[in-house]
Amino acid sequence: MKLSKDFLWGGAIAANQAEGAYNIDGKGLSLMDIAAGGKKGVSRHFTPGIQEGVYYPNHTGNDFYHHYLEDLDLCQEMGFKCFRTSIAWTRIFPNGDEEYPNEKGLEFYDRLFDAMLERNIQPVVTISHYEMPLHLVKAYGGWANRKLIDFYMNFCEVIFNRYKGKVKYWMTFNEINSVILMPEIAGVLDRARDDFEQRSYQAAHHQFVASAKAVKLGHEIDPENKIGCMVLTLVKYPMTAKPEDVELAEQMMREKTFAFSDIQVRGYYPHYVKKIVERKGFKLDIREEDLQVMKQGKVDFVGFSYYSSSASTTDQSAEMTEGNVSKGVKNPYLATSEWGWQIDAKGLRYILNRFYERYEVPLFIVENGLGYNDQPDVQMHVEDDYRIAYLKEHILEMEKAILIDGVDVIGYTPWGCIDLVSAGTGEMKKRYGFVYVDRDDEGNGNFARYRKKSFYWYKDVIASQGEKL
Ligand code: BG6
Repeated sequence: MKLSKDFLWGGAIAANQAEGAYNIDGKGLSLMDIAAGGKKGVSRHFTPGIQEGVYYPNHTGNDFYHHYLEDLDLCQEMGFKCFRTSIAWTRIFPNGDEEYPNEKGLEFYDRLFDAMLERNIQPVVTISHYEMPLHLVKAYGGWANRKLIDFYMNFCEVIFNRYKGKVKYWMTFNEINSVILMPEIAGVLDRARDDFEQRSYQAAHHQFVASAKAVKLGHEIDPENKIGCMVLTLVKYPMTAKPEDVELAEQMMREKTFAFSDIQVRGYYPHYVKKIVERKGFKLDIREEDLQVMKQGKVDFVGFSYYSSSASTTDQSAEMTEGNVSKGVKNPYLATSEWGWQIDAKGLRYILNRFYERYEVPLFIVENGLGYNDQPDVQMHVEDDYRIAYLKEHILEMEKAILIDGVDVIGYTPWGCIDLVSAGTGEMKKRYGFVYVDRDDEGNGNFARYRKKSFYWYKDVIASQGEKL
């Protein structure tokens, strides 16, 4: 199967997991700069500040800040049409609430986007990818505070103007539904408080308003801009044909995934979200002007991450397994990765169809991939046939969705195309890339880059427009 010439093949990273250089050229501390390194099965935690003796892997990332030219050369060699990254908010506004931006931070992204364009690689930018300024967490309580909308808008206005004509594809918040799955990532840290859950819903509302305002502003500044949402897909299958299991799977998908895309694509709160808030008894500060702006800032496309699926059942004794941001019920028909994420290529075709049936707007698969503890040989070569197998099956299902089902998919950017720090565990050894980076979990390694077997494979995939898998 062959895709059209303008299909956006590429890869994805995020500033906080790749750039490193956490305190260089005026950059302020972000929330991820106080995320200690964890490991498999042990989640990362945020320390109150930077502490002696604690290892913070995001401080160095894969040193993209100093390797971006080499990395973009490698991406060009693979034939990338686009490259997804984020702009570290703290490079532009180190504390988040300043009036004027940090010029040195802006210059870095000028150089980065120029380097992409020189290589015929279209930048795809996530405005906020888990890397909010730490000061906004400490002084304002994160996204639970309405003031965050204005700070975010200052940031958006500066970057939309500065990179006008260079960046066309934007996404407002990475995995926006993580605000209720893992509210800490939106700076809502106080889990011990009674109103913690209500505050996370309030934070979600503020992000919806901020996202809509950003879409509106981005279109005003440059009508060529295509601005999308980005949601984490929790694909759930009923464990059995028992109606209760079917109902639960459907409810989980609606409440944890579709609610977030429904709001941003349609521009209003759907009936079932109003009912959830009502049932929980939350008193949210939702103003008439918020609802107006949400209507005016509907997204142009739906970007999403897809790694795995899980099952749903009312049987409380069912075995659980890990997944992206939240656990799920183990599906006996699926294999799992070493990190317990279930591998399900057909789930990608399924979710593409579910989104497209619902909205009929373009879709963008902005994250997909297999985290694996690669073992390079003495020449630093990695024979990652397991990764090739994973990606091959997923691309095939994507192609079926496009060519057989008629779903409009504009691009595919596998996650962590250059090995980087894992968001969930902070490990370097949970690698996703086509390019191996010499760095381990103890901070050893010189950040040298090496092409893996999948590098050559992906290059052929792109050159053949997805025909040669
Ligand atoms: C998504 C995030 O949750 O999945 C990325 O957008 C993250 O930032 C990716 O890295 C893979 O998750 P992990 O935990 O394996 O890094």
